[in-house]
Amino acid sequence: MRIGLLISRLREEEKLLMDAFRERGVDFEKIDVRQAYYNLNYPDHWREYDIILERCVSHSQGETMLEMLESWGVHCINSARVANVCGDKRRTTSALVAAGVPTPEVRIAFTPEAALAAIDELGYPAVLKPTVGSWGRLMAKVSDREAAEAILEHKATLGSYQHSIFYIQEYIDKPGRDIRTFVVGEETICGITRSSPHWITNTARDGRADNCPITPEIDRLSRAAAEAVGGGLLAIDIMETPDGRMLVNEVNHTMEFRNSSRPTGVNIPGKIVEYVLSQI
Ligand SMILES: Nc1ncnc2c1ncn2[C@@H]1O[C@H](COP(=O)(O)OP(=O)(O)O)[C@@H](O)[C@H]1O
Ligand SMILES: [Mg+2]
Repeated sequence: MRIGLLISRLREEEKLLMDAFRERGVDFEKIDVRQAYYNLNYPDHWREYDIILERCVSHSQGETMLEMLESWGVHCINSARVANVCGDKRRTTSALVAAGVPTPEVRIAFTPEAALAAIDELGYPAVLKPTVGSWGRLMAKVSDREAAEAILEHKATLGSYQHSIFYIQEYIDKPGRDIRTFVVGEETICGITRSSPHWITNTARDGRADNCPITPEIDRLSRAAAEAVGGGLLAIDIMETPDGRMLVNEVNHTMEFRNSSRPTGVNIPGKIVEYVLSQI
């Protein structure tokens, strides 16, 4: 049996996953995608892998590897399709909407003028996000029209290609926290709340992680969101509205979990490794 662990920079998560493989006495090969090059004409040796778990920090590298590996017939977790949908907030929103999973309102625009009209229609404050990105980076909460004009002008003038498509989301006045659940296959294994005085609550931005009991509603929503993007090993960001609804904000496909095992008491890397083994 050959198992590959696809990595770029080793985070705490990948170290925990390697420990989890070792604890189970399972051999695996760590593959640093940056240290090799790939022969598209003769990829046969890749076909010897029974399964590959993709854990690259770089979304573009991970997605490229998954597409190549799947074209060579290698079984990968998560799948290229899941990475493609989750790695792009526009595709994630579309997948959630198509599946009838409640999610905040989003508008897409290509020019600052159209973006401004969309923000006016959604109402202030609104949130502008890069469609590809994580750790809460480069997100802007625009509180009024003048702030919107300034952000749009900066993006249009200084932004890279990534910023040329405007992703505009309704702002959710959540109760000082959001919810992050972990779905492994068919099961919501645990969840945390991420609390912060800042509106961006990512733990990478110092949000505090506490256990979030998985209610039937959170479980249903989490599994529906996971299924909407193609299923696998996923982390679901959920926001609570002032009138008590829950909306899925985004779905993450190479999620970080270093801060989540302790508050939840769930061995997240262990569950991930067991799922990978069960899929061979
Ligand atoms: N529309 C919104 N309304 C209120 N808070 C938001 C909204 N969008 C994002 N946030 C906050 O910002 C955090 C990061 O946003 P998210 O869309 O998950 O991007 P990232 O991929 O960087 O994690 C969320 O966890 C949440 O705390
Ligand atoms: Mg997020």
